[in-house]
Amino acid sequence: MSPRKRASPSAEPLVPPERRASVRAGLLAWYDQQKRDLPWRRTRDPYAIWLSEVMLQQTQVATVIPYWERFLQRFPTVEALADAPLADVLAGWRGLGYYSRARNLHRAAQEIVTRFGGRLPPTAAELLTLPGFGRYTAGAVASIAFGEDAPLVDGNVARVLSRLFEVEGVPGDRVREARLWALATELVPGERPGDFNQALMEHGATVCRPDNPLCLLCPVREACLAFRHGRVGELPPAKVRAAPKQMTLAVAVWAHEGRLLLARRADKGLFGGLWELPAAEVDADPPESECAARLSQALGTPVRVGAALGVVRRQLTHRTLTLRLLRVTGATRPTQAPAFQDTRWCTPEEAAALGMSTAMHKALQAALDAGALVLPPSSVD
Ligand code: ADE
Repeated sequence: MSPRKRASPSAEPLVPPERRASVRAGLLAWYDQQKRDLPWRRTRDPYAIWLSEVMLQQTQVATVIPYWERFLQRFPTVEALADAPLADVLAGWRGLGYYSRARNLHRAAQEIVTRFGGRLPPTAAELLTLPGFGRYTAGAVASIAFGEDAPLVDGNVARVLSRLFEVEGVPGDRVREARLWALATELVPGERPGDFNQALMEHGATVCRPDNPLCLLCPVREACLAFRHGRVGELPPAKVRAAPKQMTLAVAVWAHEGRLLLARRADKGLFGGLWELPAAEVDADPPESECAARLSQALGTPVRVGAALGVVRRQLTHRTLTLRLLRVTGATRPTQAPAFQDTRWCTPEEAAALGMSTAMHKALQAALDAGALVLPPSSVD
């Protein structure tokens, strides 16, 4: 057995009781006065709150607001979401990115219907058993929607706590993360745990900002160890980010009688479950033969590659995407394409209504602008 000490309720608290009380009271009073009027703060519907937390995980508040409103109009209840086809859910998510969030949301809604009669379970422990719920989302929904003393740590909270309590270590460091969660766990019990968690996040987003923090307006400055020691600028240290990976896709623009070939990706992986002009990964500067080989393989039928119809670039957080649009023809139109779960010949209007990533939507538009449906007279397929 390891001789390491375990945290237990009788162990020394990390935060002395008076300091704990002043941090809680200071942040809650500040939140009551200064909180932004955000639409999900005007509802008590756990489903709507859950949706906001999922959308906010990788997306800015200002972007999320219209998406959240539209999504709730389209899927107003857990049941409505569970009953909807995944493609419709993904279509409602287009532009937000990180589509695994939408796939998990959909699967979790189905489990909430089958396992919990359509109501979100009220504890973080139960929520954690649902797809897409990690510690953060479970803590956010349990505390905000159900008032449980459940802690949460996101990037904003990590920054606030690392300054307040002078927590060392770079983002991602396991010892640091454990300490931040232990601090959040110790701080949350008491009056209005959901508001307290939101106060921590709000404070990080608006006052205890990464650059130019507004320490003069900070309600807990007196309690802040980094402020006291002149270390606000150095805590937390910047995360070392890997350079985005370059990814080049050959994109097949296959036209037939006024329609384009669309394909739906397998559920797993980048853009999983989304529709696209059929694409296959290629080298950065691929010869035509490589594009033809890869697309033939993906589509399960030999294709010929014709004119280049343009290039679309898109920057994702961890990837730089280059989509090379290529006119493609073939003797046999694919029915069962090995790399895809479905294929369909669509008019531009039908294609635009499918659940597609923003990158692919731009590619579709670029292909149409380049005359994808205006076939050269000599072309055969
Ligand atoms: N970021 C994510 N969820 C939030 C919330 N409920 N309040 C403030 N910032 C957030």
